[in-house]
Amino acid sequence: MLLKDFLKEGVTRLETLYPTNEARNIMLMLCESRIGTKSYTHIVEPEYQIKDKSLDGLNADLDRLASGEPVQYVIGFADFCGLRFKVSPDVLIPRPETELLCREAIKIGSRIQRMRKAYGKSARPVRVLDLCTGSGCIAWTVALNIPGAEVIGVDISEKAVAVASNQDFALRLKETEGAEAPRFIVADVLADSHSYIDGDFDLILSNPPYIMESQKEQMRANVLNFEPSTALFVDDEDPLVFYRSIAALSYECLSSEGKGLTEINELLGLETAKVFSEAGFSKTEVVKDFYDKNRFVFYSK
Ligand SMILES: C[S@@+](CC[C@H](N)C(=O)[O-])C[C@H]1O[C@@H](n2cnc3c(N)ncnc32)[C@H](O)[C@@H]1O
Repeated sequence: MLLKDFLKEGVTRLETLYPTNEARNIMLMLCESRIGTKSYTHIVEPEYQIKDKSLDGLNADLDRLASGEPVQYVIGFADFCGLRFKVSPDVLIPRPETELLCREAIKIGSRIQRMRKAYGKSARPVRVLDLCTGSGCIAWTVALNIPGAEVIGVDISEKAVAVASNQDFALRLKETEGAEAPRFIVADVLADSHSYIDGDFDLILSNPPYIMESQKEQMRANVLNFEPSTALFVDDEDPLVFYRSIAALSYECLSSEGKGLTEINELLGLETAKVFSEAGFSKTEVVKDFYDKNRFVFYSK
């Protein structure tokens, strides 16, 4: 079958679920990951034939996509902050908004590290806690971009922690002098005590579940039917439950020069910031994402 015909057929099937441009991008991602074609191969080589031995697999993938399964689960990875993360239905697919949190974290962590280096070799490493780590996208991104940082990722889901621990960054670690793999721990952020707190952290990062059950109807079927609901939803009765725990534990262990960055529900910016100021943080800031929506609260002592 010609590549251009397979792409055309796929776009037609996926157009019932996605806008045309998105359907096209999904098909291009599928073909690039499975048969190594580029986004322009069907244009510059209109006679490009898909080999028979690849076609069955591609058709099976297309059926999964047409059932609404996100392309990242079908191909098994998602790109985030320039890194390729393995994903499975046990973890949330990393979102582009969360990249903003990582970039800010890298800026702040690197600054703290530079300041400490001025104290010489015995300076203590930058310590980072990533709560509700999922695929480990935040923890790994920070660990690989602040070489020398000590990063701990925590999630209640054993399966998520297995995905996070098995990310394949051995080569990146080897190439990045001083970089260390994060340590991943299964634990409940909502519990009363937190055995993973073993001293101060300079960055406390989190992207907890924050979507209210009542917001479900505005969400796309492919998110609702395929992504883990424990990663996404909180009760309408108590949508800030995670932030109260994160604020309390952060107050216990955020270093005096450190900063907390948490991703939030766009409808609850001021309410979420208040949770952190009531927990004792003197500086809290609601920060917007690139869609101009309230997306993060930054807090410090
Ligand atoms: C919104 S996802 C974020 C995943 C990842 N950090 C990211 O940004 O893509 C929330 C994560 O919180 C985890 N989680 C849910 N309840 C939890 C709890 N009580 N304690 C710790 N983690 C929890 C879920 O398993 C899920 O991996």
